[in-house]
Amino acid sequence: MSEPRKILVTSALPYANGSIHLGHMLEYIQTDMWVRFQKHRGNQCIYVCADDAHGSAIMLRAEKEGITPEQLIANVQAEHSADFAEFLVDFDNFHSTHAEENRELSSQIYLKLRDAGHIATRSITQYFDPEKKMFLADRFIKGTCPKCGTEDQYGDNCEKCGATYAPTDLKDPKSAISGATPVLKDSQHFFFKLPDFQEMLQTWTRSGTLQDAVANKIAEWLDAGLQQWDISRDAPYFGFEIPDEPGKYFYVWLDAPIGYMASFKNLCNRTPELDFDAFWGKDSTAELYHFIGKDIVNFHALFWPAMLEGAGYRKPTGINVHGYLTVNGQKMSKSRGTFIKARTYLDHLSPEYLRYYYAAKLSRGVDDLDLNLEDFVQKVNSDLVGKVVNIASRCAGFIHKGNAGVMVDTNAAPELTEAFLAAAPGIADAYEARDFARAMREIMALADRANAWIADKAPWSLNKQEGKQDEVQAICATGVNLFRQLVIFLKPVLPLLAADAEAFLNVAPLTWNDNTLWLANHQLNEFKPLMTRIDPVKVQAMTDASKEDLTASQTDTGEASPVGNGELAKDPLSPEIEFDTFAAVDLRVALIVKAEHVEGADKLLRLTLDIGDEQRNVFSGIKSAYPDPSKLNGRLTMMIANLKPRKMKFGISEGMVMAAGPGGEEIYLLSPDSGAKPGQRIK
Ligand code: MSP
Ligand code: ZN
Repeated sequence: MSEPRKILVTSALPYANGSIHLGHMLEYIQTDMWVRFQKHRGNQCIYVCADDAHGSAIMLRAEKEGITPEQLIANVQAEHSADFAEFLVDFDNFHSTHAEENRELSSQIYLKLRDAGHIATRSITQYFDPEKKMFLADRFIKGTCPKCGTEDQYGDNCEKCGATYAPTDLKDPKSAISGATPVLKDSQHFFFKLPDFQEMLQTWTRSGTLQDAVANKIAEWLDAGLQQWDISRDAPYFGFEIPDEPGKYFYVWLDAPIGYMASFKNLCNRTPELDFDAFWGKDSTAELYHFIGKDIVNFHALFWPAMLEGAGYRKPTGINVHGYLTVNGQKMSKSRGTFIKARTYLDHLSPEYLRYYYAAKLSRGVDDLDLNLEDFVQKVNSDLVGKVVNIASRCAGFIHKGNAGVMVDTNAAPELTEAFLAAAPGIADAYEARDFARAMREIMALADRANAWIADKAPWSLNKQEGKQDEVQAICATGVNLFRQLVIFLKPVLPLLAADAEAFLNVAPLTWNDNTLWLANHQLNEFKPLMTRIDPVKVQAMTDASKEDLTASQTDTGEASPVGNGELAKDPLSPEIEFDTFAAVDLRVALIVKAEHVEGADKLLRLTLDIGDEQRNVFSGIKSAYPDPSKLNGRLTMMIANLKPRKMKFGISEGMVMAAGPGGEEIYLLSPDSGAKPGQRIK
């Protein structure tokens, strides 16, 4: 046997300003399955992670909630840890970037880079909020698009026309935090001289560290030439102060990847046999892998290896990049109930269903992965319940009733047993290559063969015949042995099922190499159902619970993570608005003259509204609550009359009616008190 490998594995550090959702789980589950596979094979594999706790988004959210950033990140860390634990994501350490180990390592790495000449300083001009007394990241500036004139666009791109620009190009800029008009102000910034590492990166990114698609993308960036990277932010900022530079802080993305090291350091500090340098030192022979999503490749495949190189540490062995999760073929959406938080899922369904589904669909590419909820139910029920667990439940009863739970010493299917043994190396290769889908396909093909063999032998018929008892026992003992093999193969994906199976099989925790053993003259424990079918009603309950107040989220955010600069996703703060902004909204009492179905639309009703001086045509997504639209005829409601008309698939919608509630049947149209007249303005 070869020496066990030493492997350190990380998943990207989740932001400490929001909940974990099923998109995140795609990453943590796949990393966990790979780590469990390595441990199962007898390798030393350590899996660390942490919350990414710094940045202005966290500072502002804490302020809004009236707590300190430290309190906020502690609360979120508790929530994240509980979510991960229940999804059976088994970190060796889950730390925080706001920790002493990280402060020390970040300072040390920065000083090494500075002393080696890799840090530049220069003054830059940026928008500054004179009320909040802070510089504004692009995300926190809104204004009118310089190209098409659309109002209320963020600082770096226009959602309407797609133009990208500098925040200083926006017309009529406003701070999204205070509403104040920002002023231009200079400040000294610190830059990491990434171009110093161009050559090293050219070689490193082509040395098998990256999937081809990722290496090609990076080659484009490298060809275009690298830029210096701004690593400082001015106070007020929640982060670490830069050594010798009071009032200047490390940009969150500088200390975030160092958080991988810090989490490992924290683990070493309480684990005497772990040596930090053996994993991070320049001459380390350990392997180091980072699992990340495709949105954060530049940070991991350019900045991070350059920082490590410049500061005298080893570089990663591989960056394993995955695509994004879609649900039912579309971006996760709050209004469709497909923006599903980890907790909401866990409230309704067992974690192993999702672990298996992700495994069955994950290959080593960077393509997006679709969680199709119907397929999810169908696949899990047919593969896990119908194929795998079925083998044990078909055989266990006969062994308990016919032979007091003792498996006899006859192998009734030597050829099949050979096939199972022969398949093991291929399944291991698939896991190793992170081609979980191939591993699952091969395992299910074996399960199909085992089921077909048992069906053919039909122990339930033999059992009714005289003198066939030995044969029945041989078939069922063989069936249980084959089941045991499948459990070994599936254990990295289904640790709970494996533990329950081990209890039934009455064996010590199974490891990969146990697949060559065979149970004979062996006492089984009582058989309890190992997994139940997914009830589609529970899936529906989960999506219902995920639907947010429809009126509050008319647009799908689909935005899973703050992309790019690591700052905040759009509009998480619902900033206060000025009275003028409110006064600009034309709210009116409207009479529903006619409400009717729209041919071909499953959610919409067409409303003809009388607002005094004119009639309006409005499409509204309220059909689920008003299946008989004619009941709305003659009723008063409220509408926003000066919303810019929107072209929809079925026609133009000239305004919006107001409703409350979580969605589905629970949508409640608002109405004025009796006596109100159509067209009256709401003040
Ligand atoms: N804090 C940074 C990472 C710092 S690592 C030094 C961050 N956090 S995140 O919470 O936005 O995302 C964490 C991980 O989850 C990232 O790898 C990201 O790509 C992944 N995902 C977030 N949303 C996702 C989907 N909808 N689908 C798949 N993965 C997604 O980025
Ligand atoms: Zn525009």
